[in-house]
Amino acid sequence: MSALPPALALHSTCYRCAGQHSFDLAKEGYVNLLPVQFKHSKDPGDAPMMMAARRAFLDAGHYQPQRDSIMASIAALTPEPGLRWLDIGCGEGYYTAALAKELSCHQPQAEVYGMDIAKNAVRSAAKRYRQVRFCVASSQRLPFVDASLDGIMRIYAPSNPAELRRTLRPGGVLLTVTPGPRHLYQLKALIYRDVQLHEPKEDAVAGFAPLQDHSLCYPLRLTGEEGVALLRMTPFAWRATPQVLERLAAMAQFDCETDFTVRLWRRA
Ligand SMILES: C[S@@+](CC[C@H](N)C(=O)[O-])C[C@H]1O[C@@H](n2cnc3c(N)ncnc32)[C@H](O)[C@@H]1O
Repeated sequence: MSALPPALALHSTCYRCAGQHSFDLAKEGYVNLLPVQFKHSKDPGDAPMMMAARRAFLDAGHYQPQRDSIMASIAALTPEPGLRWLDIGCGEGYYTAALAKELSCHQPQAEVYGMDIAKNAVRSAAKRYRQVRFCVASSQRLPFVDASLDGIMRIYAPSNPAELRRTLRPGGVLLTVTPGPRHLYQLKALIYRDVQLHEPKEDAVAGFAPLQDHSLCYPLRLTGEEGVALLRMTPFAWRATPQVLERLAAMAQFDCETDFTVRLWRRA
């Protein structure tokens, strides 16, 4: 019997809490911990089309330099990154699986959890990445007991600072990735007449001390179809007219800048 998330114990095909509530494991191996009363829509989180576009784009390797850079930051942590990490808003699991691989190099018994509010994303993630424990839940109410995590990764996903403080143990690490000023500038230029640069946000989280902060910028050279997948995986897709999508799809080549801000903090 193993425990996941830490307050729940696994009994073959379901998790049970101390109060004997049980949560069935789906056949793909994930557990749904999002109570109906905390859902603000029928299918919260990213829609299946966004998820499918993100998976196609990530599978093509366009964000691999970013994934490698994140994993290098985690590998370089001293003291070592610890045993139990959570990926908040994990989507279809691209970074979560890399995190599990990275941590297992340091500690074979490492446990990596992925959670997202979108059931369709968690289902796809769990189907592909069996080494990660996935659940459907909201970052507003993390299904983890106090101080039970050594690390939290948050890549373009919303979070609740009070929940980060509650669930990370003292000395634990928070890693965030957010868009830098010129991120996807040329994609935005297809949609907006006056492109605004992303405002660098003062992302300080009370109770956390900054450890490291770096930018990663590199150019993407995409086909028009890959450009469409990139657009569809972002919220810019809601602003794109059918003509923009058609024009992009017909391009033989679409060049676009990336600009990622990677930050690490330590829980005080
Ligand atoms: C931009 S995507 C990033 C996905 C993944 N981290 C990646 O970079 O591939 C943001 C993710 O956050 C999820 N999300 C949005 N609101 C959430 C919430 N309240 N709790 C958990 N996940 C949430 C969405 O469903 C989506 O999968």
